[in-house]
Amino acid sequence: MKFDEMRQTCSGFAEQVSEKLKKKMPFSLEKAGNLDFIPYTVRNGAWAPGPFDGICWWTNGFWPAEMWAMYRLTGEERYKAEAERAENLLDGAFRDFDHLHHDVGFMWLISSGVNYRLTGSDLSRRRTMLAATLLAGRFNPAGFIRAWNEDHMGWAIIDCMMNLNLLYRASEFTGDPRFRKIAMVHADTALRHFVRPDGSCSHIVVFDPETLEVRDIPAGQGYASGSSWSRGQAWALYGFTLSFLHTGKKAYLETAQKVAAYFIREVQADGIPKCDFRQPEGDNLKDACAGAIAACGLLELAKVTETETYFDAAVSVLKALDHVCADWSEDSPAILKYCTGSYHGNDHNIAMNYADFFFMEAILKLRGDAFLFW
Ligand code: GLY
Repeated sequence: MKFDEMRQTCSGFAEQVSEKLKKKMPFSLEKAGNLDFIPYTVRNGAWAPGPFDGICWWTNGFWPAEMWAMYRLTGEERYKAEAERAENLLDGAFRDFDHLHHDVGFMWLISSGVNYRLTGSDLSRRRTMLAATLLAGRFNPAGFIRAWNEDHMGWAIIDCMMNLNLLYRASEFTGDPRFRKIAMVHADTALRHFVRPDGSCSHIVVFDPETLEVRDIPAGQGYASGSSWSRGQAWALYGFTLSFLHTGKKAYLETAQKVAAYFIREVQADGIPKCDFRQPEGDNLKDACAGAIAACGLLELAKVTETETYFDAAVSVLKALDHVCADWSEDSPAILKYCTGSYHGNDHNIAMNYADFFFMEAILKLRGDAFLFW
């Protein structure tokens, strides 16, 4: 079945959630209006920033991305203005530099990158290209993009599959293949070393930075080494799908499908992913954010393969997020509850700006908006 036909089967749901977004987001925006930080989570009913790294906190692109999503949904200038205000704040991260990391993709592709693609702003183009150049500068020709700083020279993480989109776009903007080629070397390494035969993935792989030999596979944000952190599965699912969309390389599509099959098998009957699909029996820790990211990937897979299984799985997750996790009241400026930063951290059952962004992105896809943020 064609994607547009699939969409017709749940247009009522997409419309209802859109109306709830239109009602809630003016309040969320008003609460952010004069802050000197970018909203990440909620404490005592008010927006709060990321826990460390200041303006370099890796999720700081998601608030402007939420604003662009609302701009696409409503056409209202106030959302564009707030996206641009946050994009200006992000310049502080370029000036800091020391705390920047591979997540420059998350930070600038969906803020300045989207601004440039929607408005043609030359300042936004330059910001996006600066971020892409920083990301390309983290490439180790042994075969991977280095994730973090300090002594983490050989560390690569599955989340980086999403940052690669900044490099694909940089090649598209400039016609220079260098960026895309770096991204594809990293994606090929991720495909070989992160994705397991059953479709599950590791969060972190520590390579020897000289030889690419695997030195360690730590637990990362999941339960344990060898476990299956659900957000990592979602990054892989959507990330490989996007790498396929940007390059046409079949192996990326096949990998995304393998990870998707695993994700669909593992996601609970209630539609909300556990924090780690292999956490101990009886442990009910959830991550709504993993569901929202995976739903975006599943919808793109449904579109490209014309397969209803992906569409149905995405819609069932989105309905669960709406019914169980969404706070449509004004008790909180954020939408989705029950997100988890990491299994062993303290940040359990919190709101996170990227969960809300991916939820909005999925709803836009369900409405038939073909603009790809990534
Ligand atoms: N490491 C990024 C995340 O929490 O998904």
